[in-house]
Amino acid sequence: MQPFKLIKQIVLIFFLMLSLTSIVTAQKSVSMVVDGFHPSTVISKHIYGHFSEHLGRCIYDGFWVSDTSTVVKKDRIRLDIVAALKKIQIPNLRWPGGCFADEYHWRDGIGVRTQRPKMINTNWGNVTEDNSFGTHEFLELCSLLNCEPYITANVGSGTVEEMSKWVEYLNFDGLSPMTNIRKQNGRVEPWKVKFWGVGNESWGCGGNMTPDYYADQYKRYATFAKNYPGARLNKIAAGPNGSDYNWTETMMKKVSANQMWGIALHHYTVPRTWQDKGSATAFDEAEYFTTMQKCLEMEELVTRHSTIMDRYDPAKRVALVVDEWGIWTNVEPGTNPGFLYQQNSLRDAMVAATTLNIFNNHSDRVRMANLAQTINVLQALILTEGAKMLLTPTYHVFDLFKVHQEAKLLPIQFTSPDFVSGKQKIPALNVSTSKDSNGLVHMTLVNLDPSNKISLRTTLHSINWTKVEGQVLSSAKITDVNTFEKPNLIKPVAFSGAKKEGTELVVDLPAQSLVLLTIY
Ligand code: AHR
Repeated sequence: MQPFKLIKQIVLIFFLMLSLTSIVTAQKSVSMVVDGFHPSTVISKHIYGHFSEHLGRCIYDGFWVSDTSTVVKKDRIRLDIVAALKKIQIPNLRWPGGCFADEYHWRDGIGVRTQRPKMINTNWGNVTEDNSFGTHEFLELCSLLNCEPYITANVGSGTVEEMSKWVEYLNFDGLSPMTNIRKQNGRVEPWKVKFWGVGNESWGCGGNMTPDYYADQYKRYATFAKNYPGARLNKIAAGPNGSDYNWTETMMKKVSANQMWGIALHHYTVPRTWQDKGSATAFDEAEYFTTMQKCLEMEELVTRHSTIMDRYDPAKRVALVVDEWGIWTNVEPGTNPGFLYQQNSLRDAMVAATTLNIFNNHSDRVRMANLAQTINVLQALILTEGAKMLLTPTYHVFDLFKVHQEAKLLPIQFTSPDFVSGKQKIPALNVSTSKDSNGLVHMTLVNLDPSNKISLRTTLHSINWTKVEGQVLSSAKITDVNTFEKPNLIKPVAFSGAKKEGTELVVDLPAQSLVLLTIY
């Protein structure tokens, strides 16, 4: 062979090898290790909590329908909604707000319904609140749902006495002025409500307080919210707005771990800006990328607030309670801007799944969280239209992820491939893994990349397994939604892309999908 021809062939082989390497890169291969030797914290079921405020059509025309509604109901509580939420094992429900909590006076919501005073819901559309859904109705709802109530008391426009008497009304078993009224209103046994929020967003709609001022107020309110026999309270302080680390620092410095079960954190994923949040359904790939980038900020928020808390509370007695989170977009065109009604796309499912993976992986400190909000408001699980209801992609995420409730977190190691948009990149892959009390291992894997699948090879240390089964949630377009006409466009289906090869778990994770694997 002539030397020139040989050089040409070597150069050709070189370029062929180079292009093969880039094909492998395009496939995005990942090696992962699951550490079954060291199961760590128990993932609290309360991470999977929900939030229902007197806002738009969440309570009224959501959970609580009119007497004349044709839906199957108990009193005025919609039972199809109750059944759907029981299916996902809703562990707790936060109520009555949100901003509404700091203008709510609980005594207006007890007694004969027709005689209850009305009020204006100034935060949410200035609509008249008739107080027909009050304390007894909420606790009846929680008992139907078989979940724990989480009540937020009014600090902004209420009094220490008001909160103290609400606790007495709900939790005391003996003879007292409040228990007498409770009995007159038809309830003999106390409910023994455990979770109590002491105000909401006290840095904003809850009173525009400084952290110093709020910390002092918190201690006053918390002191007189009593633990009655058999009803020890988990008191949750109003916490920071997103990255307000000074709020957390001040609270941890001024309030001891004995006085506070948890501190709340609120963080919403807003695709654009607070002035123009962006549409829930009409967005391009660049906006999808930005949304997921903002959603992933939860990782940094949880890490940095936890680091501050660790300094004052190394034993991690105080929980970080993310009691408002989710995607917040513009309202659907033509709907009341004060009602915060938005559709829910596959992008919402990606936000929910990614956030829940973050919470699971930080379950040593994050022990409670509440998605905002359950029905017809913000990132809802359920949308209703008269007697019709549909389950959103976000609902299906909670259905798939419920396997992690009270399971032990298993540490994992991997390097994520990038999801690239222009000059920016974020991790395409997020995962959490747990082992339940029956010994089953569950992995929830999210591939945010809308174009590239991810090929995973996983070694499972100290886990004896023979079989893997899966379910996948995805759709053709990231903007796809479930509608009343097509309510099942996005729902989990069986997944056949996972298998055992030797001792390894091999998974082909489709683009823009989330997968639940059960490993036996
Ligand atoms: O979830 C809607 C509102 O967002 C809540 O009322 C408030 O706490 C937050 O600002």
